[in-house]
Amino acid sequence: MWFFNKMCMSKARLDSKTVVITEASGGIGKETARDLYARGARVILACRNMEKTNEAVEDIKSNPPSWMRKDEYKNNVGELAIYFLDLRSFKNVKDCAKNLLTNEAAIHILINNAGVAASPYEKTEDGNETTLQVNHLGHFLLTLLLLPKMQSSSSSCRIVNVSSFTYIFADIDFDDINMEKSYALLGSYVQSKLANILFTKELARQLKEANIHGINIYSIHPGLIPTEITRHTSNTLFRGASFCYNTCTGLFFKNAEQGAQTTVYCSVDEKTANETGLYYSQTIVSTPKNCGMYPVVFCIWNQKKILPRF
Ligand SMILES: NC(=O)c1ccc[n+]([C@@H]2O[C@H](COP(=O)([O-])OP(=O)(O)OC[C@H]3O[C@@H](n4cnc5c(N)ncnc54)[C@H](OP(=O)(O)O)[C@@H]3O)[C@@H](O)[C@H]2O)c1
Repeated sequence: MWFFNKMCMSKARLDSKTVVITEASGGIGKETARDLYARGARVILACRNMEKTNEAVEDIKSNPPSWMRKDEYKNNVGELAIYFLDLRSFKNVKDCAKNLLTNEAAIHILINNAGVAASPYEKTEDGNETTLQVNHLGHFLLTLLLLPKMQSSSSSCRIVNVSSFTYIFADIDFDDINMEKSYALLGSYVQSKLANILFTKELARQLKEANIHGINIYSIHPGLIPTEITRHTSNTLFRGASFCYNTCTGLFFKNAEQGAQTTVYCSVDEKTANETGLYYSQTIVSTPKNCGMYPVVFCIWNQKKILPRF
Protein backbone atom coordinates (compact mmCIF):
# COMPACT_ATOMS: atom_id res chain seq x y z
CA MET A 1 0.00 0.00 0.00
CA TRP A 2 1.16 3.54 -0.76
CA PHE A 3 1.19 4.51 2.93
CA PHE A 4 3.75 1.75 3.58
CA ASN A 5 5.85 2.98 0.70
CA LYS A 6 9.55 3.37 1.45
CA MET A 7 11.56 6.12 -0.19
CA CYS A 8 15.28 5.91 -0.90
CA MET A 9 16.72 8.24 1.75
CA SER A 10 20.27 8.30 0.40
CA LYS A 11 21.58 11.72 -0.56
CA ALA A 12 24.36 10.14 -2.66
CA ARG A 13 25.46 12.23 -5.64
CA LEU A 14 26.36 10.72 -9.00
CA ASP A 15 28.43 13.55 -10.46
CA SER A 16 30.68 12.24 -13.23
CA LYS A 17 28.91 8.86 -13.22
CA THR A 18 27.20 7.43 -16.29
CA VAL A 19 23.95 5.48 -16.01
CA VAL A 20 22.26 3.48 -18.78
CA ILE A 21 18.53 2.79 -18.35
CA THR A 22 16.64 0.60 -20.78
CA GLU A 23 13.42 2.45 -21.52
CA ALA A 24 13.01 5.63 -19.63
CA SER A 25 10.45 7.26 -21.89
CA GLY A 26 7.66 6.62 -19.39
CA GLY A 27 6.58 4.77 -16.26
CA ILE A 28 9.09 3.69 -13.64
CA GLY A 29 12.08 4.15 -15.97
CA LYS A 30 11.36 7.84 -16.52
CA GLU A 31 11.10 8.50 -12.77
CA THR A 32 14.31 6.58 -12.18
CA ALA A 33 16.04 8.71 -14.83
CA ARG A 34 14.69 11.91 -13.22
CA ASP A 35 16.02 10.92 -9.81
CA LEU A 36 19.50 9.96 -11.02
CA TYR A 37 19.73 13.07 -13.25
CA ALA A 38 18.89 15.16 -10.17
CA ARG A 39 21.86 13.49 -8.43
CA GLY A 40 24.19 14.74 -11.17
CA ALA A 41 24.54 11.61 -13.34
CA ARG A 42 24.88 11.47 -17.09
CA VAL A 43 21.74 9.44 -17.74
CA ILE A 44 21.42 7.52 -21.00
CA LEU A 45 17.89 6.65 -21.99
CA ALA A 46 18.13 3.54 -24.20
CA CYS A 47 14.71 3.51 -25.84
CA ARG A 48 12.90 2.55 -29.03
CA ASN A 49 10.32 5.34 -29.39
CA MET A 50 12.33 8.48 -30.15
CA GLU A 51 9.39 10.89 -30.12
CA LYS A 52 8.17 9.69 -26.71
CA THR A 53 11.75 9.72 -25.39
CA ASN A 54 12.38 13.29 -26.56
CA GLU A 55 9.21 14.35 -24.74
CA ALA A 56 10.42 12.49 -21.62
CA VAL A 57 13.74 14.33 -21.78
CA GLU A 58 11.96 17.71 -21.90
CA ASP A 59 9.74 16.68 -18.99
CA ILE A 60 12.70 15.49 -16.89
CA LYS A 61 14.62 18.70 -17.60
CA SER A 62 11.70 20.89 -16.51
CA ASN A 63 10.43 18.99 -13.47
CA PRO A 64 12.50 17.84 -10.49
CA PRO A 65 11.68 14.75 -8.42
CA SER A 66 9.40 15.52 -5.47
CA TRP A 67 12.30 15.51 -2.98
CA MET A 68 14.12 18.41 -4.69
CA ARG A 69 13.17 22.09 -4.99
CA LYS A 70 12.98 23.53 -8.52
CA ASP A 71 15.64 26.21 -7.91
CA GLU A 72 17.99 23.59 -6.44
CA TYR A 73 17.35 21.30 -9.45
CA LYS A 74 18.69 23.74 -12.06
CA ASN A 75 22.18 23.83 -10.58
CA ASN A 76 22.61 20.22 -9.59
CA VAL A 77 21.55 18.13 -12.53
CA GLY A 78 23.70 15.95 -14.77
CA GLU A 79 23.19 15.25 -18.48
CA LEU A 80 20.61 13.37 -20.53
CA ALA A 81 21.37 11.41 -23.71
CA ILE A 82 19.28 9.12 -25.92
CA TYR A 83 20.36 5.89 -27.66
CA PHE A 84 18.15 3.71 -29.81
CA LEU A 85 17.43 0.26 -28.35
CA ASP A 86 14.86 -2.32 -29.41
CA LEU A 87 15.21 -5.38 -27.21
CA ARG A 88 13.21 -7.52 -29.66
CA SER A 89 16.28 -7.77 -31.89
CA PHE A 90 19.66 -9.15 -30.80
CA LYS A 91 21.21 -7.30 -33.73
CA ASN A 92 19.81 -4.06 -32.40
CA VAL A 93 21.01 -4.83 -28.87
CA LYS A 94 24.51 -5.44 -30.27
CA ASP A 95 24.37 -2.19 -32.28
CA CYS A 96 23.25 -0.24 -29.22
CA ALA A 97 26.01 -1.81 -27.09
CA LYS A 98 28.57 -1.03 -29.80
CA ASN A 99 27.47 2.62 -29.87
CA LEU A 100 27.66 2.84 -26.08
CA LEU A 101 31.09 1.22 -25.99
CA THR A 102 32.37 3.54 -28.72
CA ASN A 103 30.88 6.82 -27.55
CA GLU A 104 30.85 6.59 -23.77
CA ALA A 105 34.04 6.96 -21.75
CA ALA A 106 32.58 4.92 -18.88
CA ILE A 107 29.46 3.13 -17.67
CA HIS A 108 28.95 2.91 -13.91
CA ILE A 109 25.33 1.85 -13.52
CA LEU A 110 23.14 -0.27 -15.82
CA ILE A 111 19.41 -0.47 -15.13
CA ASN A 112 17.58 -3.20 -17.06
CA ASN A 113 14.11 -1.76 -16.74
CA ALA A 114 12.19 -2.23 -20.03
CA GLY A 115 9.38 -4.75 -20.04
CA VAL A 116 6.27 -6.03 -21.79
CA ALA A 117 3.43 -8.03 -20.30
CA ALA A 118 0.49 -10.04 -21.61
CA SER A 119 1.23 -9.37 -25.26
CA PRO A 120 -0.21 -11.63 -27.97
CA TYR A 121 1.98 -14.58 -28.95
CA GLU A 122 4.70 -13.46 -31.30
CA LYS A 123 8.23 -14.57 -32.12
CA THR A 124 11.11 -12.20 -32.61
CA GLU A 125 13.41 -12.25 -35.64
CA ASP A 126 15.75 -14.30 -33.44
CA GLY A 127 13.11 -17.00 -32.98
CA ASN A 128 12.29 -16.34 -29.33
CA GLU A 129 8.95 -15.65 -27.68
CA THR A 130 8.78 -11.83 -27.53
CA THR A 131 8.18 -11.33 -23.78
CA LEU A 132 11.08 -13.63 -22.91
CA GLN A 133 13.40 -11.82 -25.32
CA VAL A 134 12.43 -8.25 -24.32
CA ASN A 135 12.30 -8.84 -20.57
CA HIS A 136 15.21 -11.24 -20.18
CA LEU A 137 17.28 -12.38 -23.19
CA GLY A 138 17.82 -8.88 -24.61
CA HIS A 139 18.88 -7.56 -21.21
CA PHE A 140 21.09 -10.61 -20.65
CA LEU A 141 22.93 -9.89 -23.91
CA LEU A 142 23.18 -6.14 -23.28
CA THR A 143 24.58 -6.74 -19.80
CA LEU A 144 27.24 -9.17 -20.99
CA LEU A 145 28.29 -6.80 -23.79
CA LEU A 146 28.63 -3.85 -21.40
CA LEU A 147 30.33 -5.75 -18.55
CA PRO A 148 33.96 -5.26 -19.71
CA LYS A 149 33.38 -1.51 -20.04
CA MET A 150 31.85 -1.39 -16.57
CA GLN A 151 34.75 -3.37 -15.17
CA SER A 152 37.21 -0.81 -16.51
CA SER A 153 35.06 2.19 -15.50
CA SER A 154 35.27 2.01 -11.74
CA SER A 155 35.72 -0.32 -8.80
CA SER A 156 32.12 0.25 -7.73
CA CYS A 157 29.63 -0.39 -10.53
CA ARG A 158 26.06 -1.58 -10.19
CA ILE A 159 23.55 -3.45 -12.34
CA VAL A 160 19.86 -3.40 -11.42
CA ASN A 161 17.42 -5.87 -13.00
CA VAL A 162 13.79 -4.77 -12.66
CA SER A 163 11.86 -7.96 -11.97
CA SER A 164 8.44 -8.41 -10.37
CA PHE A 165 6.99 -10.25 -7.37
CA THR A 166 4.96 -12.25 -9.91
CA TYR A 167 8.03 -14.47 -10.39
CA ILE A 168 6.55 -16.54 -7.56
CA PHE A 169 3.98 -17.91 -10.01
CA ALA A 170 6.57 -18.98 -12.56
CA ASP A 171 7.19 -22.52 -13.59
CA ILE A 172 9.77 -22.48 -16.37
CA ASP A 173 9.44 -25.37 -18.79
CA PHE A 174 12.95 -25.63 -20.20
CA ASP A 175 11.71 -28.08 -22.85
CA ASP A 176 9.31 -25.43 -24.14
CA ILE A 177 10.94 -22.14 -23.15
CA ASN A 178 9.32 -20.33 -26.09
CA MET A 179 5.90 -21.67 -25.14
CA GLU A 180 5.30 -23.11 -28.58
CA LYS A 181 3.21 -25.99 -27.25
CA SER A 182 1.01 -23.83 -25.06
CA TYR A 183 1.24 -20.11 -24.56
CA ALA A 184 0.04 -18.45 -21.36
CA LEU A 185 -0.12 -14.65 -21.45
CA LEU A 186 0.85 -14.17 -17.84
CA GLY A 187 2.97 -17.31 -17.84
CA SER A 188 5.37 -15.78 -20.35
CA TYR A 189 5.68 -12.62 -18.21
CA VAL A 190 6.25 -14.41 -14.92
CA GLN A 191 8.86 -16.79 -16.35
CA SER A 192 10.77 -13.79 -17.77
CA LYS A 193 10.67 -12.12 -14.35
CA LEU A 194 11.95 -15.27 -12.64
CA ALA A 195 14.71 -15.34 -15.27
CA ASN A 196 15.70 -11.78 -14.19
CA ILE A 197 16.18 -13.01 -10.62
CA LEU A 198 18.05 -16.18 -11.59
CA PHE A 199 20.29 -14.16 -13.91
CA THR A 200 21.07 -11.76 -11.04
CA LYS A 201 22.05 -14.58 -8.68
CA GLU A 202 24.05 -16.47 -11.27
CA LEU A 203 25.95 -13.45 -12.60
CA ALA A 204 26.86 -12.43 -9.05
CA ARG A 205 28.09 -15.98 -8.39
CA GLN A 206 30.11 -16.15 -11.61
CA LEU A 207 31.69 -12.73 -11.05
CA LYS A 208 32.77 -13.81 -7.57
CA GLU A 209 34.10 -17.11 -8.90
CA ALA A 210 36.09 -15.25 -11.57
CA ASN A 211 37.48 -12.96 -8.86
CA ILE A 212 35.88 -9.93 -10.48
CA HIS A 213 34.99 -7.47 -7.75
CA GLY A 214 33.35 -4.08 -7.94
CA ILE A 215 30.31 -4.95 -10.05
CA ASN A 216 27.31 -5.54 -7.83
CA ILE A 217 24.09 -6.87 -9.28
CA TYR A 218 20.59 -6.58 -7.81
CA SER A 219 17.08 -7.66 -8.79
CA ILE A 220 14.06 -5.77 -7.56
CA HIS A 221 10.27 -5.69 -7.41
CA PRO A 222 9.16 -2.07 -7.88
CA GLY A 223 5.66 -2.42 -6.38
CA LEU A 224 2.33 -2.24 -8.20
CA ILE A 225 2.08 0.95 -10.22
CA PRO A 226 -0.35 2.29 -12.83
CA THR A 227 1.79 2.48 -16.00
CA GLU A 228 1.55 1.44 -19.64
CA ILE A 229 2.78 -2.06 -18.78
CA THR A 230 -0.89 -3.08 -18.99
CA ARG A 231 -1.31 -1.72 -22.54
CA HIS A 232 -2.00 -5.16 -24.09
CA THR A 233 -4.20 -6.54 -21.32
CA SER A 234 -7.53 -5.10 -22.46
CA ASN A 235 -7.11 -6.92 -25.79
CA THR A 236 -5.49 -10.10 -24.55
CA LEU A 237 -6.89 -10.69 -21.05
CA PHE A 238 -10.33 -9.10 -20.83
CA ARG A 239 -11.86 -5.80 -21.86
CA GLY A 240 -11.18 -3.17 -19.19
CA ALA A 241 -8.27 -5.11 -17.65
CA SER A 242 -5.90 -2.18 -18.08
CA PHE A 243 -8.42 0.24 -16.51
CA CYS A 244 -9.02 -2.10 -13.55
CA TYR A 245 -5.30 -2.60 -12.87
CA ASN A 246 -4.41 1.06 -13.18
CA THR A 247 -7.36 2.24 -11.07
CA CYS A 248 -6.61 -0.23 -8.26
CA THR A 249 -2.87 0.31 -8.27
CA GLY A 250 -3.35 4.10 -8.56
CA LEU A 251 -5.72 4.20 -5.59
CA PHE A 252 -4.14 1.66 -3.30
CA PHE A 253 -0.55 1.17 -4.32
CA LYS A 254 2.13 3.48 -5.72
CA ASN A 255 2.74 6.17 -8.27
CA ALA A 256 5.64 5.85 -10.73
CA GLU A 257 8.00 7.96 -8.63
CA GLN A 258 7.37 5.73 -5.62
CA GLY A 259 7.77 2.74 -7.92
CA ALA A 260 11.26 3.94 -8.86
CA GLN A 261 12.50 3.96 -5.25
CA THR A 262 13.79 0.40 -4.99
CA THR A 263 15.66 0.78 -8.29
CA VAL A 264 17.20 4.06 -7.07
CA TYR A 265 18.04 2.47 -3.71
CA CYS A 266 19.95 -0.37 -5.36
CA SER A 267 21.63 2.05 -7.78
CA VAL A 268 22.95 4.54 -5.24
CA ASP A 269 22.42 3.73 -1.59
CA GLU A 270 25.50 3.24 0.58
CA LYS A 271 23.78 0.40 2.47
CA THR A 272 23.69 -1.79 -0.63
CA ALA A 273 27.28 -1.07 -1.67
CA ASN A 274 28.56 -4.41 -0.39
CA GLU A 275 25.60 -6.55 -1.41
CA THR A 276 25.24 -8.53 -4.63
CA GLY A 277 23.01 -11.22 -6.13
CA LEU A 278 20.06 -10.35 -3.90
CA TYR A 279 16.41 -9.53 -4.53
CA TYR A 280 14.79 -6.38 -3.06
CA SER A 281 11.25 -5.17 -2.54
CA GLN A 282 10.29 -1.90 -0.80
CA THR A 283 14.02 -1.08 -0.49
CA ILE A 284 14.48 -4.18 1.68
CA VAL A 285 16.29 -7.43 0.87
CA SER A 286 13.74 -10.14 0.43
CA THR A 287 14.12 -13.89 0.01
CA PRO A 288 12.78 -15.21 -3.30
CA LYS A 289 10.09 -17.79 -2.55
CA ASN A 290 8.40 -20.53 -4.44
CA CYS A 291 4.75 -20.00 -5.33
CA GLY A 292 3.33 -22.97 -3.41
CA MET A 293 0.44 -21.41 -1.52
CA TYR A 294 -0.21 -18.25 -3.52
CA PRO A 295 -3.66 -17.16 -4.69
CA VAL A 296 -5.52 -19.74 -6.68
CA VAL A 297 -6.95 -17.21 -9.13
CA PHE A 298 -3.56 -16.20 -10.44
CA CYS A 299 -2.46 -19.80 -10.66
CA ILE A 300 -5.55 -20.65 -12.72
CA TRP A 301 -4.78 -17.76 -15.08
CA ASN A 302 -1.25 -18.98 -15.31
CA GLN A 303 -2.40 -22.47 -16.19
CA LYS A 304 -3.98 -21.02 -19.38
CA LYS A 305 -7.35 -22.48 -18.52
CA ILE A 306 -9.32 -19.27 -18.88
CA LEU A 307 -7.03 -17.45 -21.24
CA PRO A 308 -7.32 -17.22 -24.98
CA ARG A 309 -4.90 -19.52 -26.77
CA PHE A 310 -2.66 -18.32 -29.54
N1 LIG B 1 3.86 -1.31 -13.25
C1 LIG B 1 3.88 -2.33 -12.39
O1 LIG B 1 2.94 -2.52 -11.61
C2 LIG B 1 5.07 -3.27 -12.37
C3 LIG B 1 5.09 -4.28 -11.39
C4 LIG B 1 6.17 -5.14 -11.34
C5 LIG B 1 7.23 -4.99 -12.24
N2 LIG B 1 7.19 -4.01 -13.19
C6 LIG B 1 8.33 -3.91 -14.11
O2 LIG B 1 8.80 -2.57 -14.17
C7 LIG B 1 9.44 -2.34 -15.43
C8 LIG B 1 8.99 -1.00 -15.99
O3 LIG B 1 7.62 -1.11 -16.33
P1 LIG B 1 6.57 0.08 -16.20
O4 LIG B 1 5.55 -0.36 -15.23
O5 LIG B 1 7.25 1.37 -16.02
O6 LIG B 1 5.84 -0.01 -17.62
P2 LIG B 1 5.97 0.88 -18.94
O7 LIG B 1 5.68 2.30 -18.65
O8 LIG B 1 5.17 0.18 -19.99
O9 LIG B 1 7.51 0.75 -19.24
C9 LIG B 1 8.06 -0.38 -19.89
C10 LIG B 1 8.89 0.14 -21.02
O10 LIG B 1 9.48 -0.98 -21.70
C11 LIG B 1 9.56 -0.60 -23.04
N3 LIG B 1 9.67 -1.67 -24.01
C12 LIG B 1 8.72 -2.53 -24.38
N4 LIG B 1 9.17 -3.29 -25.39
C13 LIG B 1 10.43 -2.87 -25.65
C14 LIG B 1 11.42 -3.24 -26.58
N5 LIG B 1 11.19 -4.19 -27.48
N6 LIG B 1 12.60 -2.61 -26.58
C15 LIG B 1 12.84 -1.61 -25.71
N7 LIG B 1 11.93 -1.20 -24.81
C16 LIG B 1 10.76 -1.83 -24.78
C17 LIG B 1 8.32 0.21 -23.32
O11 LIG B 1 8.63 1.08 -24.40
P3 LIG B 1 7.54 1.60 -25.46
O12 LIG B 1 6.81 2.69 -24.79
O13 LIG B 1 8.37 2.03 -26.61
O14 LIG B 1 6.68 0.41 -25.77
C18 LIG B 1 8.06 0.93 -22.03
O15 LIG B 1 8.52 2.27 -22.04
C19 LIG B 1 9.12 -3.55 -16.30
O16 LIG B 1 10.25 -4.39 -16.35
C20 LIG B 1 7.99 -4.23 -15.55
O17 LIG B 1 7.96 -5.63 -15.78
C21 LIG B 1 6.13 -3.15 -13.27
